Amino acid sequence: MLKAVFKQERHCQLAAVVLVAALSLTGVGVKAQTPADQGIWLQGPLLTSVQLSGLFDDSKTFVDMPLLASPGAAQQAFQALPRSADGSIDNPTLSSFISSFFGAAGSDLETYFPEDYSPEVPLDFLANVTDPAIRAWATSVRQLWATLSRVENGSVTQIPDQHSLLPLPDHFVIAGDRFREEYYWDSYWIVQGLIICGLVETAQAEVQNLVSLLQEYGHVPNGARQYYLNRSQPPLLSRMVDLIYEATNDRDFLQEAFEALQTEHDYWTTTEKAVSVRAPDGTIHSLSRYYADWTAPRPEGFSEDYPLGASLTPAATAELYRNIASGAESGMDFTVRWFSEPTANMSTIRTTQIIPVELNAYLYDMERNMAAFATELGNASAAASFTAAAAARATAITALMWNSSAGHWFSLILQDDSQRPATVSQQDIVHVSDYLPLWVGLSEQPGVDASSIVRSLRSSGLIQQHGIATSIYSSGQQWDFPNAWAPMQDMIVEGLQSYGGEEGAALAAQLAQVWLESNYAGYQQTGLMVEKYDATMPGLAGGGGEYTVQQGFGWTNGVMFKFLDTYGWNPSAGAPLPATPLPSPRK
Ligand SMILES: *[C@@H]1O[C@H](CO)[C@@H](O)[C@H](O)[C@H]1NC(C)=O
Ligand SMILES: *[C@@H]1O[C@H](CO)[C@@H](O)[C@H](O)[C@H]1NC(C)=O
Ligand SMILES: *[C@@H]1O[C@H](CO)[C@@H](O)[C@H](O)[C@H]1NC(C)=O
Ligand SMILES: *[C@@H]1O[C@H](CO)[C@@H](O)[C@H](O)[C@H]1NC(C)=O
Ligand SMILES: *[C@@H]1O[C@H](CO)[C@@H](O)[C@H](O)[C@H]1NC(C)=O
Ligand SMILES: *[C@@H]1O[C@H](CO)[C@@H](O)[C@H](O)[C@H]1NC(C)=O
Repeated sequence: MLKAVFKQERHCQLAAVVLVAALSLTGVGVKAQTPADQGIWLQGPLLTSVQLSGLFDDSKTFVDMPLLASPGAAQQAFQALPRSADGSIDNPTLSSFISSFFGAAGSDLETYFPEDYSPEVPLDFLANVTDPAIRAWATSVRQLWATLSRVENGSVTQIPDQHSLLPLPDHFVIAGDRFREEYYWDSYWIVQGLIICGLVETAQAEVQNLVSLLQEYGHVPNGARQYYLNRSQPPLLSRMVDLIYEATNDRDFLQEAFEALQTEHDYWTTTEKAVSVRAPDGTIHSLSRYYADWTAPRPEGFSEDYPLGASLTPAATAELYRNIASGAESGMDFTVRWFSEPTANMSTIRTTQIIPVELNAYLYDMERNMAAFATELGNASAAASFTAAAAARATAITALMWNSSAGHWFSLILQDDSQRPATVSQQDIVHVSDYLPLWVGLSEQPGVDASSIVRSLRSSGLIQQHGIATSIYSSGQQWDFPNAWAPMQDMIVEGLQSYGGEEGAALAAQLAQVWLESNYAGYQQTGLMVEKYDATMPGLAGGGGEYTVQQGFGWTNGVMFKFLDTYGWNPSAGAPLPATPLPSPRK
């Protein structure tokens, strides 16, 4: 109901805005906007000048600044700025133009106090956690749900082309710091933490926003910004829908989400994201890959991306930028697993040539969730078709990605992207993603031996004293060694607990405990929860990548609550972890 009103209003207002914009453009004789420059934050001379000016330390700042006038008026004023002989605009001129036409980054977001947040801690909150210091820590992190809640200023819906924010019907929890909008896959861990803390309505609002984006755009964008529209993020929405339905039993919500999720399933299984692959025995399988519909520098990473493509041919530049955007679509931006080899750099990025094992595991999980939703909703034919899709994907994953001598799965490399069905080989690289199929129970497929997975994980080099590292390569990229990320800890721990037998469950409890201890050590040292940690040093924030480490932090908080809720606080369970040798740093 709420959403129907929202959409209707939005469409009327959109029509009015377009009409006004068209009139003002024809009036002043400015060239009509093309789709490419419609969003002032996406592409074009204005964006290029600002992003290469060095006026902002972080490329994301400018693209998060709302317009104070129409895009047409801003473009016109930009074109009229004085330029030197080489066509460049000096920084003071550019800076004063920006302050006249743009508001501060994030000024179109307002803090929001969630109605379901009570400052009084409920009696049953983390009932198993009795240590007073840990309860005090959990209580202050619980308060962060209120600190991190936002709602869009009404202007975002009323005048959408003056905001890079995408209109959302409801309030939401941001990831933290520079991540000042709602993100797709982050929401999965945020929602779990919210539910544990009793903020079920806020959790549902977060998921409803994603469902609305899916209905509006045909896929769930990476985040709720125009510049995230041409790519998605790891497809975990069906899991979130499942959690909300479990918490609310809201059938209308389930029905609406189920219908929307069918569109998301098409998005990942048709188009360039789907690849048909020939197995060694001649069987043809269909698998999916990350493939962003984007061939320009990422607007929010413009000053990083632009120089990488500057000296290439136009076709090579377009492919490079697609591969960078596809790396961002994977959520793992960036890691050497997307490069030609572990010692290579961004210039060799080839994300679209890789069929990622975890993406196909997520889609298998989605297909099973869809079958369960269809059954719950009484749609036997849809249930049968999603069950068949899940079975076919599981067969493909086992046939092509499982490796019994290695004891884990691998991602695949396309031998020749122009060939269909494609031939592939297993990507010989040690990365936490190779173990994620355990999370969705793909270890139960015939021919897969779960105990060998636990053994190979133990000896992989990924398990460090203070968490599971993302890879064993010290590349300087943030999804590599020594960084450890909360979502990876969660999926590996849950997979070990559910499918790893006794040895797996014991390892899961240890891993959960050392992760909590590291989070707590960091909190004691700095008072902060951060987006990533160093797996070799308790409490130390992770580093590398394109921006300074961010605090907040949605998914870290979510996983903290989940581990405390599941395992309690039990320091004796934390030691000793298997002593796997530290990989030698590169260089
Ligand atoms: C909404 O944000 C715009 C900036 O985009 C600002 O000018 C306006 O005052 C804000 N409105 C409200 C009601 O806060
Ligand atoms: C984004 O997607 C739209 C729709 O497919 C397309 O027209 C546009 O060219 C894409 N943008 C870039 C920069 O590739
Ligand atoms: C990246 O690697 C290429 C090829 O090995 C090399 O030519 C280039 O200088 C490297 N770039 C950086 C920034 O290290
Ligand atoms: C079952 O779901 C399919 C889509 O998978 C839909 O076309 C069909 O109308 C649904 N049937 C019923 C009875 O709701
Ligand atoms: C399986 O893994 C082993 C050891 O890592 C490797 O030598 C072998 O080539 C892999 N098998 C396939 C089919 O890639
Ligand atoms: C948490 O407490 C409940 C009873 O209050 C108990 O049944 C459960 O086993 C405990 N869980 C842990 C991980 O200690």
